[in-house]
Amino acid sequence: MEFLSPRPGISHIRPYQPAKPSDDDGRAWIDLSLTVNPLGPSPAALHAYRHAASRIHHYPDSRQTALRRAIARRYDLDDSRIVCGGGSDDLLQLLCQAYAGPGDEVLCHEHGYRGFIKAARLTGATPIVAAERDMVVDVEAMIELSGNKTRLCYLANPNNPTGTYIPADAVQRLRAGLPPHTLLVLDSAYAEYIRRDNYADGVDLVEGSDNVVMVRSFSKMHGLAGLRVGWAYGPRTVIDALEHVRSPFAVSVPAQAAAAAAITDAEHENATYDHNAAWLPWLTQELEQLGLRVYPSVCNFLLVRVAPDPSLGVPQILDHLARRGILVKSCVEYGMADGLRITVGLEEENRALVTALGEVVG
Ligand SMILES: Cc1ncc(COP(=O)(O)O)c(C=O)c1O
Repeated sequence: MEFLSPRPGISHIRPYQPAKPSDDDGRAWIDLSLTVNPLGPSPAALHAYRHAASRIHHYPDSRQTALRRAIARRYDLDDSRIVCGGGSDDLLQLLCQAYAGPGDEVLCHEHGYRGFIKAARLTGATPIVAAERDMVVDVEAMIELSGNKTRLCYLANPNNPTGTYIPADAVQRLRAGLPPHTLLVLDSAYAEYIRRDNYADGVDLVEGSDNVVMVRSFSKMHGLAGLRVGWAYGPRTVIDALEHVRSPFAVSVPAQAAAAAAITDAEHENATYDHNAAWLPWLTQELEQLGLRVYPSVCNFLLVRVAPDPSLGVPQILDHLARRGILVKSCVEYGMADGLRITVGLEEENRALVTALGEVVG
């Protein structure tokens, strides 16, 4: 007799592990485990969200017209080549479903965003992982591993959990070195945090190619993680493919309204940028002074590694921080048993973290 079992490969997908303990008693944590905006959503987004409440008996606009137009106006894009989804995670998965399947390969990078491997496994494709150099994507290593079977190549730029990025010319080199039948998926979830001349979010590359798509998120800079909104901008053929596979109502009525308002709120975006620009270097310096290895980040979080010490590893540090009411993210799922990802919080949260860490390390 044959028993019911999921498709092969599904058991290799590790279920999501939240940082909060399973016996959480609902206490008020300082939660620096997820890479969200400590300033919260923009007031304009909140207003639009509340206003949309009276319309939640309707299905959302399946064409996402107002939201697509707001995004297009903000970035000077063609709104007919934008598709929104239930978080950028949703779109990253849909792209894989549309372009890859069993027997195909999906190229990822060593410490790349974990959603990539999951997307590949969900479709039955084989994830191929290129080594990084000191937590930075190695474009040549990725090109080397590409071939006939490579249907998709994911690049998170900047990347989570490393916080590092590669410059625009390296991304162009990657595109040029990949086979033409490979779709390059640029995940630019943290693009709004980086204002450097040698960085490009991917729009120019999308405009100049027929096999590059950029995916963005409303969960980070725009402070709408709880609403689940992301968007993709790509060539017409890729957007058409997404139209075939996406769920028409994945972005709810209040989510569409709040996101459309959030993207016009430059004041909130600048305040968030300034807050991060002030506290990211402060945290970096404080954590380095405690003897931790801190990787240079351009995002709203830091990857930190602790020195080998049999009596003081990541589990002990997490326990201590939890006793002080602070949550940070273990990087064990990224193959770094000695790694922690710490998100920039409000001033008092950052100071509480440094004090609590100083009690165990340093
Ligand atoms: C690099 C990267 N891409 C995509 C996502 C997914 O974000 P969301 O689905 O909330 O838009 C995340 C979330 O942490 C991320 O870090």
